Amino acid sequence: MLSAAAQGVPGFWRQPATDVSWNFDSGRPDPTTFPIDDMLGLSERVLRTQTAGALEYGDYYDGTIYGYAELRDRLAERTRRRDGRRVGPESVILTSGGVQAISLALKAFLDPGDVLAVEAPTWGAVVVSAQRRGAHVVPVPVDDAGLRVDVLEKQLVALRRQGRRLKLVYTIATFNTPSGVTMSVDRRHQLVDLARRWSFLVLEDNVYGDLRYDGVPVPTLFSMDDAGLVFMVESFSKTMAPALRLGWATGHPQVVAALASVRTDLGVSQWMARVMSEYLNASLFDAHVVDVIQLYRAKRSAAEDALHRRCDSWVRWRTPEGGFFLWVELDPSIDTELFLRNALNGGVLVRPGERFFGQPEDGKARFRLAFSQLPIAEIDPGITVLGKAIAESAR
Ligand SMILES: Cc1ncc(COP(=O)(O)O)c(C=O)c1O
Repeated sequence: MLSAAAQGVPGFWRQPATDVSWNFDSGRPDPTTFPIDDMLGLSERVLRTQTAGALEYGDYYDGTIYGYAELRDRLAERTRRRDGRRVGPESVILTSGGVQAISLALKAFLDPGDVLAVEAPTWGAVVVSAQRRGAHVVPVPVDDAGLRVDVLEKQLVALRRQGRRLKLVYTIATFNTPSGVTMSVDRRHQLVDLARRWSFLVLEDNVYGDLRYDGVPVPTLFSMDDAGLVFMVESFSKTMAPALRLGWATGHPQVVAALASVRTDLGVSQWMARVMSEYLNASLFDAHVVDVIQLYRAKRSAAEDALHRRCDSWVRWRTPEGGFFLWVELDPSIDTELFLRNALNGGVLVRPGERFFGQPEDGKARFRLAFSQLPIAEIDPGITVLGKAIAESAR
């Protein structure tokens, strides 16, 4: 009964059957940060003053497929300010979260058998989606400075020998999921240069990019590219609220047109797009991001303190400068599967490391801990249970 795509690869969105008291699994924002009053006020204003626009399909092709032009304009303006690139609304398409922009990119640029390179580790959902499209996914290792561009170059040569060509690189260059690593400026230049020399596209997933807690901001790959090969995916999900289902891609107008051409829905909510346009217009968004950064910085500290206190001799991790996650390496004496079972029996869910690699064995001794969603007071109790689960899983 099922299509080949539905049967092909095991599903990514698996839910445990057990009750979870401490969910450190997914990258969700803290619900107490949702700006409810501002959103209520702006929603009402938009409904009363722009009733038809907010509640109808968008205007013709442009407003429907690309999305509400004023929001695209606001977002382009933000990108101009941050990245110093001359972009206008024709360089922006609104999507149902960042994930739809990524799906459109895979659809627009990859045929079965085409090659996609990803960081190892990376967001597993992208690997699963690409494999479902029949693409060949090449993992590229990551070190402290991000994606190993030298290794990617060797892979390009090897692919050419096999008569294959890399079409697309997917990179979470800033606060990589799950490792938290940010690609250095040098590496970014190298990657952009390699893309130009070998003519491949780079999809820069920047959904966590605004959530920097310390360190110096690093320019986006998009800001460094003069050839129109880098396009960037962003979203309001992590900074504002996932249920807005509002993300966007910014890139060369031809790249954005390619994404638009494979779109088969009728665009994002005109209402929410207008609300967010007003939200940006009133300078509320930047102020909101400043507020949430303070909270997540405190949560990151709470999670690190708890890991030191409750699990110290068993675990190692590097402090990420932003994002929602700690990428934790377990001592080799720990049986990871037993640990994950023990943790879940104690009511704690973390995401197994193998979910971030094309080859699951690569992530066996690791897990990703999302510190963003739980109330700060629950972080230590949850990590205490995690520490017990680790201690009980020593071989
Ligand atoms: C790395 C990364 N990119 C993109 C997304 C997409 O999120 P959304 O579609 O809600 O914008 C996620 C969500 O978890 C993510 O972790």
